Amino acid sequence: MTLPVAKLAVLISGSGSTMLNLAHAIDSGDLPARIVLVIASRSDAVGIDRARGAGLACEVLPRKAFADVETYSNALTACIDAAGVDLVCMAGFLCFWKIPAHWVGRTLNIHPSLLPDFGGRGMHGMHVHDAVIKSGATQSGCTVHFADNQYDHGPVILQRTCPVRPDDTPATLAARVFAEERIAYPAAIKNVWLSMQRQIGGCRP
Ligand code: GRF
Repeated sequence: MTLPVAKLAVLISGSGSTMLNLAHAIDSGDLPARIVLVIASRSDAVGIDRARGAGLACEVLPRKAFADVETYSNALTACIDAAGVDLVCMAGFLCFWKIPAHWVGRTLNIHPSLLPDFGGRGMHGMHVHDAVIKSGATQSGCTVHFADNQYDHGPVILQRTCPVRPDDTPATLAARVFAEERIAYPAAIKNVWLSMQRQIGGCRP
């Protein structure tokens, strides 16, 4: 079966590790995709240089430059629309994007916990792992989901789990969860893309 290549926009706010993981999965042939555009919500995001260093087009659309969620969302939507992509992948994107109807169902997010637990506003980065450890949970993991207009909310596509060890710190747990994220995000994107192609009859035997 020949699968067409999915054109991706990747949204970042921080280090860009998730974005680079997707680029790596594409380069290794595990994900039939192309990152057409990276969009960063902060001008000081480390991921900007990492994206450009990896040869990816990167636009900076600082949230700070916009008065409110509405105007920022409109600008972000215009930028994504102009890129001509098939899917939008949030990758450590910490801003609220009011997702317009035509991108709902084609926008994915990855979160470093087993949603619906430990998600929502303020639950990002080490805050998530800290909360998981403090809760006494013995299992954590990651969730890839379709994004809707609530933080860390929307239909789950894939979850992967890992243990929480008694001596874990937020950093050690983050590393274990990220190992699962590395597998989960490319796999989830591929599944979504495959199912979109099946629906439109785009897969050739
Ligand atoms: C990951 O833990 C991911 O689950 C979450 O943001 C983190 C990655 O951020 N959405 P980055 O790629 O290191 O900036």
